Amino acid sequence: MKQERCVPRHVAIIMDGNGRWAQQRNQLRAVGHRAGLKTVRKIVTYAASIGIKVLTLYAFSSENWKRPPTEVSALISLFIYALKREMKNLNKNNVRLNIIGDISRFSYQLQQMISNAEQLTKNNSGLVLNIAANYGGRWDILQSTKKITTKVLNGEITLDDITEECLGLEMSMHELPDVDLVIRTGGDYRISNFLLWQIAYSELYFTDILWPDFTQALFDEAINVFNTRERRFGGILTQEHSC
Ligand code: FPP
Repeated sequence: MKQERCVPRHVAIIMDGNGRWAQQRNQLRAVGHRAGLKTVRKIVTYAASIGIKVLTLYAFSSENWKRPPTEVSALISLFIYALKREMKNLNKNNVRLNIIGDISRFSYQLQQMISNAEQLTKNNSGLVLNIAANYGGRWDILQSTKKITTKVLNGEITLDDITEECLGLEMSMHELPDVDLVIRTGGDYRISNFLLWQIAYSELYFTDILWPDFTQALFDEAINVFNTRERRFGGILTQEHSC
């Protein structure tokens, strides 16, 4: 009997290739990022429609500040534009929006917008959409470590209380299911300081397709490949872990 396709609960995406997509068309890199936003819209809608519970997108890494100031400001403006333009629609579609990352480096105005967007959607029960903004996997481990260290210094816990679980509880997205599948577009085979702790047992899928060209059909293809993977989580295959 043919087994039902399993839809991963949590998919995380490194949306790479916007710049090259624009360069191939003799356009500014910012044009590629705008085209990338259109793909974000399509993929978010599709993810919700096929029953993915959590989608995490790498929009702006802690290292992206190293880009030319014009590109940094184009990326931040696009983020503000997307928050302004998409919030109502996301809310109407029952999406819960979370921003992960060190937002303290953003302007007060943007921090307020982020907080309003999270407040507006916090009771929604549909897709959880995490946008990683000024996010780095090492930053995440560091901020968790600092919180735990503070607890030790305050005498709230002892050194022996520090376990993987304890550290994990301070990490971004700790309240959500683990990442099942990481997709990276744009042809590179690396994680680029995206989620580190959270992808310990994730399946990884790489494609040469540039992010603005990524489609629902290609997303489906990634899920099909995910379905061919045998996830053992360091143990042996069990019914419970077969998806
Ligand atoms: C990587 O492409 C992409 C980014 C650094 C930004 C991704 C942003 C978007 C898709 C649009 C905004 C999204 C939201 C959620 C507001 P790259 O510039 O590194 O491309 P390259 O490798 O071809 O140079």
